[in-house]
Amino acid sequence: MSGGAGDGAILITGGSGFLGALAAAKALAETEATVVLPVREPHTRESVLGPIATELAAEGRPVTDAVLARAVVVPLPPPERIAELAPEMKRLGVRDVLHCAGCLSYFNLGKLQEGNLDLTAGLLALGRAIDARRFVFLSTAYSAGFTDQLIPEALHEAYGDDPTDYTRTKREAEWLVARSGVPYVIVRPSIVIGDSRDGRYGGKPYGIYQLWTAGERYLGNGYPPVLHVVAGDQPVNFVHQDAFKDGFWAAYAKLEDGAVVHLVSRDDALPTMRDLWELWLATHGGPSEVHFFKRLDDVPDADVAAQVRMWLDFTAINNEIASVRWKFARARLDALRAGGLALTDASLATVRIAQERFVADSPKLQAFIARYREQGATTPRFVVHPDRSLERG
Ligand SMILES: NC(=O)c1ccc[n+]([C@@H]2O[C@H](COP(=O)([O-])OP(=O)(O)OC[C@H]3O[C@@H](n4cnc5c(N)ncnc54)[C@H](OP(=O)(O)O)[C@@H]3O)[C@@H](O)[C@H]2O)c1
Repeated sequence: MSGGAGDGAILITGGSGFLGALAAAKALAETEATVVLPVREPHTRESVLGPIATELAAEGRPVTDAVLARAVVVPLPPPERIAELAPEMKRLGVRDVLHCAGCLSYFNLGKLQEGNLDLTAGLLALGRAIDARRFVFLSTAYSAGFTDQLIPEALHEAYGDDPTDYTRTKREAEWLVARSGVPYVIVRPSIVIGDSRDGRYGGKPYGIYQLWTAGERYLGNGYPPVLHVVAGDQPVNFVHQDAFKDGFWAAYAKLEDGAVVHLVSRDDALPTMRDLWELWLATHGGPSEVHFFKRLDDVPDADVAAQVRMWLDFTAINNEIASVRWKFARARLDALRAGGLALTDASLATVRIAQERFVADSPKLQAFIARYREQGATTPRFVVHPDRSLERG
């Protein structure tokens, strides 16, 4: 088949999570289809539909009883019993499966195995049992592991070291999908950030929100006189949640079977970590001196204030990922764009909108900024340290 989103009901996993809820809102807005949302306990129909309705309303879409009645929330069995849903899914007319559930607990091997591998295997068994027309798997742009090569829009035969078992389990899940016999499309987003227009963000503190949340927690009571941060000059690839929604839907509706697509922003406008720090400091005032290091290993342990050490430890993996120059092939996304898909690329200006929204939603940061302004905000002296990883070999 070329292109999904035909007639029939659509099953979407991860409806209780960030990206699954966005996909569900899009499905309700774009189609007249029944949207089936299997979720595990303790979720209820109300808890799942709340964020979906909020997203529809934010897009100016009608949130009528008739629209919400098309969402059917069902209990998700454990992975080995998911195929038992087949008779009910056939009765509901499910043809396509959009598998948006997944586990991002970087260090919990058991949860990663269950949420990324066992769950995907269970859903593929269901896909086979209902003779699914299309199975869209939501993966990650980082499933290749660390590499300085161009990352192809293809399954990874070769791969680099993994930042954590998260990327390994996502890569292995891609192979499960590809070998399942079910017609599939794989969508690999980079780091999802709030809406490009108003900054609203429905996700957990992942990606840049982990760094901002850590900033609020560890630096939100006051800066040490000298701040040591990891801030390279590589572009960091964000994709806005509105771009995710539209790009994911276009991939589902338009790509050919077996396609893999990187849902990423174009490199030219993307901010670097250094830009992101300067944006944060311009908003929050700053300490008298800020030292920028290219990599976490370059930060001199002895000089670092205790709260900054906690910040660095908490954000270590994401800082490590952001220290690398990731090059994502983009031909499929470019083709979708050429065919009419309109996406806003992430840039310093649009990330600023997301940061402003984050700050506006944080009483602690509001108070912090007010205090700094009262004191007369300092303009910090910036010290940029060279990349010492080559010296270390
Ligand atoms: N957020 C990003 O920036 C980003 C970027 C690239 C790729 N992705 C991929 O997108 C997927 C969803 O991310 P997200 O941001 O929406 O995460 P999220 O908000 O944490 O949502 C995860 C969803 O998956 C479900 N889930 C997790 N483990 C499960 C399990 N063992 N059994 C059943 N359901 C399970 C969760 O159900 P519960 O509510 O019951 O926990 C929730 O519905 C992930 O696979 C991730 O790899 C995300």
